[in-house]
Amino acid sequence: MILTLTGVDAFYGLHHVLHGVSLEVRAGEIVALLGRNGAGKTTTLRTIMGLVDERRGVIDYDGVSLLGLRTHEITRRGLAYVPEYRGVFSDLTVAENLRIAALRARDWTIADVLELFPTLRTLQDRKGGHLSGGEQQMLAIGRALLSSPRVLLLDEPSQGLAPLIVETVIDTLRRLRGQGMGILLVEQNAETALELADRVCIIDQGSIVFRGAAESVQRQPEILSTYLAVG
Ligand SMILES: Nc1ncnc2c1ncn2[C@@H]1O[C@H](COP(=O)(O)OP(=O)(O)O)[C@@H](O)[C@H]1O
Ligand SMILES: [Mg+2]
Repeated sequence: MILTLTGVDAFYGLHHVLHGVSLEVRAGEIVALLGRNGAGKTTTLRTIMGLVDERRGVIDYDGVSLLGLRTHEITRRGLAYVPEYRGVFSDLTVAENLRIAALRARDWTIADVLELFPTLRTLQDRKGGHLSGGEQQMLAIGRALLSSPRVLLLDEPSQGLAPLIVETVIDTLRRLRGQGMGILLVEQNAETALELADRVCIIDQGSIVFRGAAESVQRQPEILSTYLAVG
């Protein structure tokens, strides 16, 4: 499995946001996409999922172009997207949120999700809107897994979560990688991302300005200060 973006441009209306973005995600690896606020991280994920007004260039998944496909068709081909604000239904209970996502379940079942996140088992009757940030994040990842993805696109999964919950999310992503899932992880928190990622891409003003092994970034933290303006 491989997801490849080559020279991808993306537009919201006339606003040209991505400029020639190239990156790839293989089975069993975590690629972190880092960048300042407004750099184009979310837009990159939305572009892959067909959620921008216009996209150009090459977006291939296992040698098949995703460019002509609609979002639900892209999901059916094995990509799942967990948006920044987590995409759970706030008026539905945890059980209902999972049941809706499971309508087309194949490899993953609700029982698997509850085994991965035992916390959700005790919260089945709670409304999505009454969950904590961490619980919502687990539910959102659980919902994404029920589409049996081979590639998971995650937008700032650690945002707003208590450190202990961040560790749970990190453990989960490691386990999924171990099962051969490819993960594209958008993070503002470079530390969390470097702890997890195999490779790192840094985006700035809609262009990829750095790519390399996560280890090389850990060894040369000045890369982060150069491109992200953080210490
Ligand atoms: N729906 C939209 N319509 C127009 N411009 C947008 C929209 N969403 C984001 N943008 C613009 O695209 C650029 C990249 O945004 P985004 O991808 O959300 O950045 P990041 O996720 O890295 O913070 C920003 O300049 C932002 O203002
Ligand atoms: Mg964003």
